Amino acid sequence: MSAHPKTTIRIASKSLRVPFLLQRILSSGLPFKGLMCYAVEEAQFLSSLGFDDLLIAYPSQQLSDYRILRDLHDHQKKTVSIVVDHPKSINELNDYMKGISRPFPVILEFDVSFRALGGRIHIGARRSPIRTIAQLIEMIEFIQQLPYLHLEGLMVYESHIAGLGDTNPNHFWLNPLIRYVKRMSMSRIQQLRREMKQLCSKYGLNLLNGGGTGSLMAALEETTVLTEITIGSGFFQPHLFDHYQQNQAMINHFHSTFVPSCYFALPVVRISDEGEWVTCAGGGYVASGRPGWDKVPLPVFQVG
Ligand SMILES: Cc1ncc(COP(=O)(O)O)c(C=O)c1O
Repeated sequence: MSAHPKTTIRIASKSLRVPFLLQRILSSGLPFKGLMCYAVEEAQFLSSLGFDDLLIAYPSQQLSDYRILRDLHDHQKKTVSIVVDHPKSINELNDYMKGISRPFPVILEFDVSFRALGGRIHIGARRSPIRTIAQLIEMIEFIQQLPYLHLEGLMVYESHIAGLGDTNPNHFWLNPLIRYVKRMSMSRIQQLRREMKQLCSKYGLNLLNGGGTGSLMAALEETTVLTEITIGSGFFQPHLFDHYQQNQAMINHFHSTFVPSCYFALPVVRISDEGEWVTCAGGGYVASGRPGWDKVPLPVFQVG
């Protein structure tokens, strides 16, 4: 995988959930560095297995989580950080970290969802109340005056682009519109991230994170801006990614095609309509984001 020498690829452990695979990827010699976790207890578990550089991408307001974070950072001396987005919970975290030997690292999330008509049209996960550069500057300055937190950087995850197929035969009439919205949205995000890079220099922030497998090719255009790109589910190549316009570019870039690599077997527990329908006992991974058939496991290898 070729990226700008300064840009590293963080692995989304929440998308893989197999410690052995995380280890295998991190030790491949390619520019992979650090894990992105979904939850504080997940980071604690991975830390107990020897993993380090754990960025928790989802805020928490639980005291039990704060206790774990403090222990990982202050006693175990792990490199751990958590995403924050709201002054109320930021203040609570700061209060909890009172007396800590080094300020606790936090990452501020900026919401880059596609919005039009003053927010009446909203496409994307509502990841943060921070949606303008002015709000971002206000929050950076707010965090930087807190004694027990250290603002490490910014998270700018284009989830609505990464998670949405744009050559999907199941909704072929929507594809041109999806591609249009993705194009408009991505160029706005790239412009915003360029402005954020300048803010990072001005305020001494070390990290600017974007990504998602589904927008990897666009993010790779920004390797002079992003310090890291996070990917996870792409390592399994789920069928979610079958219908993305970027696929050919990925094949050209990596000189490789991609094959699905996560399978599971389920027992048939009912045969209600012989030869037509069976019911299997549940199992498998469901992709995050808007629920839909593109996110659930796809039957393959059926016999009979
Ligand atoms: C903030 C963030 N960035 C990047 C990713 C990586 O996405 P993917 O697993 O689709 O590559 C995730 C995973 O959900 C995420 O939560």
